[in-house]
Amino acid sequence: MRKKVSIIGGGNVGASTAQLIVQTALADVVLFDIADGIPQGKALDIAEACPLWNSSVSVKGTNSYADTKDSDIVVITAGFPRKPNMSRDDLLHANADVVKTVSSAVAKTSPNAILIVVTNPMDVMAQLTWKTTEFSCKRVIGMGGILDAARLRAFLSWELNISPEDIETIVLGGHGDQMVPLPRFTTVKGIAITEILKKKTIDSLINRTRSGGAEIVSLLKSGSAYYAPAAAVVQMVKSILLDEKRMFPCAAYLNGEYGMKDVYLGVPVILGREGVERVVEVKLTKEEKAQFKKSCASVRKLIKKLLL
Ligand code: NAI
Ligand code: 2OP
Repeated sequence: MRKKVSIIGGGNVGASTAQLIVQTALADVVLFDIADGIPQGKALDIAEACPLWNSSVSVKGTNSYADTKDSDIVVITAGFPRKPNMSRDDLLHANADVVKTVSSAVAKTSPNAILIVVTNPMDVMAQLTWKTTEFSCKRVIGMGGILDAARLRAFLSWELNISPEDIETIVLGGHGDQMVPLPRFTTVKGIAITEILKKKTIDSLINRTRSGGAEIVSLLKSGSAYYAPAAAVVQMVKSILLDEKRMFPCAAYLNGEYGMKDVYLGVPVILGREGVERVVEVKLTKEEKAQFKKSCASVRKLIKKLLL
């Protein structure tokens, strides 16, 4: 039996995610949106590319949750993206309403699914999804750190003129301006970048990573990034469906790990068929701990605003 992935929100991130999953024949895809015709049109277009991609999976666009029934994975991208000069946090209340509606519908139609939350402000939306669905926290995961890490890897590869494939990094904390990239754990084929780049250069690449989302928003003028976000979601989907047990920075529920309790935050996790199979803890320096704490405080502030 082929696996089934439903994507809620057939906008830029949702449709790009659908395209990548279908193109790589990873699973059957259902693309759901409240907008009439949009998910149907995009799904039809993707389906018509299948002969060219040599892909035999199915893709369906819909406005009915019934079509998403018993999905193995549900990706939540429904909501509103950022506009120029708007922070991810400005989206809080509008997107909380959408995510509440979506996650309670998904909990009924796909009670055994693993949920990947993309909608911003993502860490808080992951917490809201977990609370609304009452799913095990292993089955509710936020996508953010994997995208931030990819951006830093791209910037480093341009700086060093080395393939991004050979660059690894970890970004901790909330998927916001207070994210915590870790140069100590950023390596080029095992060599720490602190050995090969000046602190000033590393700091400037980290700053560019922190505002990586905003850089794209200001260029696009309307809407936010979607190619790299969709690629990040698909790596998570693949690791879960194929039980790859890859390690990615994702927003996971912390219950004492990294000294934090009852909060979704970006940490390295192992993703397999159970969802978050474990959180990987690394010892942080005093400075890294302080940054992580600050990032956690900014996520908690939003959690409080939503009375979660
Ligand atoms: P978009 O505007 O292109 O698509 C959003 C879609 O959601 C629209 O098609 C809209 O009709 C749909 N929608 C709205 N309310 C809905 C509901 N109640 N049920 C089902 N669908 C509904 O936006 P885009 O670019 O796809 O971004 C989606 C979200 O993902 C935004 O909140 C954005 O900030 C966030 N995002 C998060 C990233 C991350 O790293 N966590 C990366 C990129 C985007
Ligand atoms: C990004 O980082 C909008 O969160 C999204 O591009």
